[in-house]
Amino acid sequence: MAFAPTPRQLAVIKSCVFLLALLPFFALVYLVATDQLVEPLQYITRNTGSWTLYFLCITLAVTPLRRLSGWNWLLKLRRMLGLYAFFYALLHFTTFLWFDHFFEVQEMLKDVVKRPFITVGFIAFVLLVPLAVTSTNGMVRRLGGKRWQLLHKLVYVIAPLGILHFWWMRAGKSDFNKPILFGLIVLVLLGARVWWARAGKTGKPGSDPRV
Ligand code: HEM
Repeated sequence: MAFAPTPRQLAVIKSCVFLLALLPFFALVYLVATDQLVEPLQYITRNTGSWTLYFLCITLAVTPLRRLSGWNWLLKLRRMLGLYAFFYALLHFTTFLWFDHFFEVQEMLKDVVKRPFITVGFIAFVLLVPLAVTSTNGMVRRLGGKRWQLLHKLVYVIAPLGILHFWWMRAGKSDFNKPILFGLIVLVLLGARVWWARAGKTGKPGSDPRV
């Protein structure tokens, strides 16, 4: 039988995930505070960009993991994980706006338009905003379940845009190893949904429309 935590156990799991997800942030604060970074701007931008991508992938992994394991409670972690993707994206963007452009929004927008890899990252970030804003129970109620679900399908666009942004950034150095790895991870996570959705339409056993 699939593991199903009691409400108390689930609260403990949620607290652990909450704290674990903050570790990269505290590690970054520690490195900055103790002056251990040679190129802090570059390190912080890359580190927060990487964690945005990791949390996007972890959030996208919840549904396939739930399906494969039968652990339906995993869905209860998904909102928090998605909000962490937004949290790291916000840090990533703020680092760029602050250190690269000293909060000169017009200069920043010029840079966004001029450099295609930043254009793509910016679009991904802008698309993440409505997902974060509508993540509360009140917003789910206000939008209605169907519309809310449709809106949150934007993550299927955001993750590939994140990969394209990463790919483009690394193209200048012809260093494609990590973008290829994460591109494959996103492909599998999204491909599994397409496969299950198709199986659902053709009524294959084990199919589930809630992908
Ligand atoms: C969902 C949104 C985003 C994701 C997933 C993302 C992800 C990433 C990743 C994975 C990296 C490379 C990290 C590494 O080299 O290990 C990166 C670099 C970078 N990102 Fe983003 N990013 C996003 C949004 C943005 C936005 C909105 C901006 C600015 C407007 C931005 C600006 C940059 C810059 C400037 C770098 C390169 C820094 C350098 O050359 O060292 N990104 N991003």
